[in-house]
Amino acid sequence: MTTTPDRRTIVAGNWKMNKTPDETDAFLDAFTASAPTTPSVEVLLIPPFTSLDRAGRRSAGTRVRLGAQDVHEAESGAFTGAVSGAMLAACGCTYVLVGHSERRHVFGDDDAIVRCKLERALAVGLAPILCVGETLDERRADETKAVLVRQLSQGLAGLSVDALADLVIAYEPVWAIGTGETATPEQAQGAIARIRAWVAAEIEPAFADRLPILYGGSVKPANALDLLSQPDIDGALVGGASLDPDAFADIVRAGISAAEGR
Ligand code: PGA
Repeated sequence: MTTTPDRRTIVAGNWKMNKTPDETDAFLDAFTASAPTTPSVEVLLIPPFTSLDRAGRRSAGTRVRLGAQDVHEAESGAFTGAVSGAMLAACGCTYVLVGHSERRHVFGDDDAIVRCKLERALAVGLAPILCVGETLDERRADETKAVLVRQLSQGLAGLSVDALADLVIAYEPVWAIGTGETATPEQAQGAIARIRAWVAAEIEPAFADRLPILYGGSVKPANALDLLSQPDIDGALVGGASLDPDAFADIVRAGISAAEGR
């Protein structure tokens, strides 16, 4: 599949369970002082719930956008410990991760819950970042394609192109997350091209052409440019390396080089 020039490039930092509000301020002060800003790359921070409000205030007036790591599928109600989509939007979030591998594998979110969360995100106007990816056992058993098709079809089937207008997909092979073992650019490109082909066949070719699909899994300053220069890779979902403002700024620079080289 060839790259269309108008596809957005997104570099997102998923902080997972890291950074208090004060640490969030310190990160943003350092990051916004050194990171380049350009309309060619969207920069997105995904702090824990308790730091979202502070991140929103500290990044006001900058190009940094905010996302949340998870959303409850219900609108509101007796769900102790959960956070609703409307609450996230009120904190300034415009994106939310759904189906991150740690939600799937540590917290037991199955495909049906992921689908409900994705629909909740759409209902409150948050752009869902649907995360998909195979485990090491599934890759070794040659099941990567089947797993991706299952996660995509259960997450997206039946939703219209209009409803999915703000969708982003992140391909994150579970074996590459937090392990230091990155997918090769060829492996990541291959899987993401397959995802795009599924979207073209099952949803709409023109929608597939403009859909941003990110790679995630041990993205670092040293490997970011090779990954982001692949024709179907439209950005990165970065975990560990996004905790350091200089490393994250370097990955944003790689995103800018890749976007401008297209
Ligand atoms: P990692 O995490 O960059 O630390 O591998 C990526 C992610 O989980 O989104």
